[in-house]
Amino acid sequence: MISFNVPPYTGKEMEYIRQAVENEKICGDGSFTMKCSRWIEEKTGTEKCLLTTSCTHALEMAALLADIEPGDEVIMPSYTFVSTADAFVLRGAKAVFVDIRPDTMNIDENKIEAAITERTKAIAVVHYAGVGCEMDKIMEIAKEHGLFVVEDAAQGMMASYKGKALGTIGDFGCFSFHETKNYSMGEGGALLIRDGGYVEKAEILREKGTDRSKYFRGQVDKYRWMNYGSSYLPSDMNAAYLYAQLELADEINEVRLARWKNYYDNLKSLEDAGKIELPFIPEGCIHNGHMFYIKTKDLEERTALIHFLKENGILSVFHYVPLHTAPAGIRFGRFCGEDQYTTRESERILRLPMFYKLTEEEAEYISRKVKEFYGV
Ligand SMILES: Cc1ncc(COP(=O)(O)O)c(C=O)c1O
Repeated sequence: MISFNVPPYTGKEMEYIRQAVENEKICGDGSFTMKCSRWIEEKTGTEKCLLTTSCTHALEMAALLADIEPGDEVIMPSYTFVSTADAFVLRGAKAVFVDIRPDTMNIDENKIEAAITERTKAIAVVHYAGVGCEMDKIMEIAKEHGLFVVEDAAQGMMASYKGKALGTIGDFGCFSFHETKNYSMGEGGALLIRDGGYVEKAEILREKGTDRSKYFRGQVDKYRWMNYGSSYLPSDMNAAYLYAQLELADEINEVRLARWKNYYDNLKSLEDAGKIELPFIPEGCIHNGHMFYIKTKDLEERTALIHFLKENGILSVFHYVPLHTAPAGIRFGRFCGEDQYTTRESERILRLPMFYKLTEEEAEYISRKVKEFYGV
């Protein structure tokens, strides 16, 4: 059976975890955490990167830093993972869902302005499949209306929009290092902060409301309770696992892009014949091979294809159920405008196996089976 996902593993992880243990500092902000943060800062060009326990927690920190309060509204796509909404709803905000573009599955930048009210405080964008949203337009709208922009770049590490790393364009960017992501530490994430003015508050938030980060740097002689906060910093053992992959990030990225291209080239004839649709990468976007999906005619055809692939030893999956149709989405959010594409396109998406250790032969076999299903 070809799995849908296999967590990335390069071979050095166990050695680095052993080193973390031998350093006798396995809690947060040990040497591997610092190495990972510096690496991300250099690679992306962000002002500050703080490793977190998850992308969900990075999003929660972003909501706290943006001072989201009860009654505020946050604009976001409905086609996303629950965490995009949860982080803001936890602070008492209403999620205002806007339709997606059918070509990228990202929020439709042309439908955002109609959703702005006097209560709107932020726009949370999601770079689906590591393909950038139309950030120029989104940043322009945010500037005009004085709104925060939070980038849910859970799937976006090593991808860029017009030369800028995803996660570094808005006020705050959030990466995920969950085991399903291109680079992983089991559970984990990172908060990217564009404006250095937020760094001190973010460090305090992440360290239970204390200035322990300053204390560890020798900047204060004792640490104290400075503000509200929580515990958002991961163990150094998890960071050690991640660092092994960051060292090989370019290679991992190249392999994933090669598999992605392999699928694309092999399945192009099916798209040309009008049987399926393939992903679209807008000009100016460089993606990271996070995901390869196809779009079937409809839900029924997708269900049949999932079964056919399973019978042939291939695990394929669908993706998000639109949040506005879920019980919590109905309670905590509202859809603004018409749901022209969110539900329809979400029912057509089928994700094919994609992971670092997926071989060229496996990718070829999967494409062959998809074609066989369509009688080609
Ligand atoms: C778009 C998006 N946002 C947030 C998350 C949450 O990430 P994490 O599991 O690291 O909290 C995910 C995870 O799949 C995601 O796809």
